[in-house]
Amino acid sequence: MFLSRNSAYIALSLAIVRCVQTETLVPIRPLGVSSNSKRQEPSGLDLRNTETFLWGDADMAEVTVANLTVYMPDDSENIVNMENFESMLGSVECSESSISMTFQDNAAFTYAQRVWEWVDQKENNSFVMVVPAGQCGNGTSRRPFVVSSVEYEPELDRAILATARSDWQTIAHSYDLVVGSVTQDTISNKVRRDIDKSTTIDFVHDFPFSFAISSGPLEARIACTNCSSTGQFDMEFKISQKLFVPTGASMTVKPKGVSAVAQVKFTGAGSVTDALTKTFDIVQIPLAGVNVPGVMEFGPQLTFAVGAELSAITVSAGVTSGATAKFSNDAILEMNLLNPDNNKFSGWEPEIDAIEVTVDGSITGGVAIFLQPSMELKAEALGQGFEIGLNMRVPNINAKLSAIASPAGACPAAAVPEGTAKRTLGVNLSANIGAELNIQALKTGERDPLFTVQIAAGQTLNFPLAQKCFPFGDEIAARSIRESAVYP
Ligand SMILES: *[C@@H]1O[C@H](CO)[C@@H](O)[C@H](O)[C@H]1NC(C)=O
Ligand SMILES: *[C@@H]1O[C@H](CO)[C@@H](O)[C@H](O)[C@H]1NC(C)=O
Ligand SMILES: *[C@@H]1O[C@H](CO)[C@@H](O)[C@H](O)[C@H]1NC(C)=O
Ligand SMILES: *[C@@H]1O[C@H](CO)[C@@H](O)[C@H](O)[C@H]1NC(C)=O
Ligand SMILES: *[C@@H]1O[C@H](CO)[C@@H](O)[C@H](O)[C@H]1NC(C)=O
Repeated sequence: MFLSRNSAYIALSLAIVRCVQTETLVPIRPLGVSSNSKRQEPSGLDLRNTETFLWGDADMAEVTVANLTVYMPDDSENIVNMENFESMLGSVECSESSISMTFQDNAAFTYAQRVWEWVDQKENNSFVMVVPAGQCGNGTSRRPFVVSSVEYEPELDRAILATARSDWQTIAHSYDLVVGSVTQDTISNKVRRDIDKSTTIDFVHDFPFSFAISSGPLEARIACTNCSSTGQFDMEFKISQKLFVPTGASMTVKPKGVSAVAQVKFTGAGSVTDALTKTFDIVQIPLAGVNVPGVMEFGPQLTFAVGAELSAITVSAGVTSGATAKFSNDAILEMNLLNPDNNKFSGWEPEIDAIEVTVDGSITGGVAIFLQPSMELKAEALGQGFEIGLNMRVPNINAKLSAIASPAGACPAAAVPEGTAKRTLGVNLSANIGAELNIQALKTGERDPLFTVQIAAGQTLNFPLAQKCFPFGDEIAARSIRESAVYP
């Protein structure tokens, strides 16, 4: 299918304009936000070969949204988080090549000297010191420094670290990073709501539209009288690497209360003999992303399009139809971006309820109308980037119409509502309602997708609506029945 983004067609266009901001997650300190007032143990000064850093939503700072665990397995490397011993420090002064810290008491100073002396025991020993937001200048984020040696001034309880400024991508050669969550069932709803705010895709949108489709002798229009979607998609992004080699990258998507309704009217005059497909973007909605400066960025965008496929159509009428499609909350999609063979998905067949089809004139041919929401997610973490698209055709209404004529009544009595007068002309309609979903993933900067997978489609998702016939033209049988009743 080709995409026509001809904005000249957009009559009632881009109704939704939003101001979106990327939310910067805030560091969650090891003992919670108020760690300065809590007692910290000297073991916080220990050099470690694994350290976990958590970030959370600014309004709900104790709830983890991002978890970065850094591994330093080599004998010559280590890591320490200043947040673990910040309360033991008096002053901290930073220059281009050093961090000087004065301890509040001699016991803490002595402990630090004992554990940090390791760095000077071998020429190439070094450790990473992660400096919290607010220290070393006015930084609002955690920053890593590489410490290559330490001098001590015991009379002042002061340690002077020889440092080089670094960045997360350089120091985190081996890490696990988890952003967002799709399984938070153990925590309270209030907390859940706040987590959701950061890593979910809001699907609550209302989008009226009206587009002209013109092709040769056909003048037609599709318009929506009731098109909206509701619910949200929960996300989780996990990425791992070992010695700069990616060892895992996955994205999990789960719907929560997601449904879409489309009640669409197709009207026209004229005809086309060839098949004609048009897709119009209704609205593009960039949603609030989240980021951790220097570590990761996560940005979703939602696009709603409407498409129409017409084939061999002759029309002087309007057709109104529609459906609602609803996803089960049990649906889940787990994309393995490094090994697509391990992609897992289930439960994505939406429950579809058709809205009555009505035809008010003569029409023959095939008309398919579908709503096409798509979600794009861009996730970038420590130098690795992925783009994922979840493309839907929900609902997809596919109607075949044929004009029929008969002096004895065009529509069979069984196909018209009881009490409806017989008429000489009619439109016989058979319609299917269905849905299609696929996902596509690619590595940022590369043209070819990593994979494209259909996660719901096919026969089970394309069921027929009852055969219908819409009478029009001259009334016939009704008059003769009345006449015979009045004049026996
Ligand atoms: C953070 O991630 C690490 C490793 O993946 C895990 O062991 C740890 O339990 C996680 N911590 C939190 C608070 O989620
Ligand atoms: C430090 O030296 C040891 C032995 O010479 C070597 O195995 C190790 O890889 C070196 N580490 C770094 C970070 O250069
Ligand atoms: C913060 O630091 C930047 C440069 O590092 C400087 O330009 C800016 O003026 C500082 N802001 C404050 C409030 O000190
Ligand atoms: C739109 O469709 C929904 C779902 O079928 C229905 O609940 C709602 O009343 C409709 N709104 C209008 C204005 O028709
Ligand atoms: C209406 O169409 C269906 C299928 O296209 C066909 O089986 C049926 O005979 C048609 N009815 C009339 C009255 O033409």
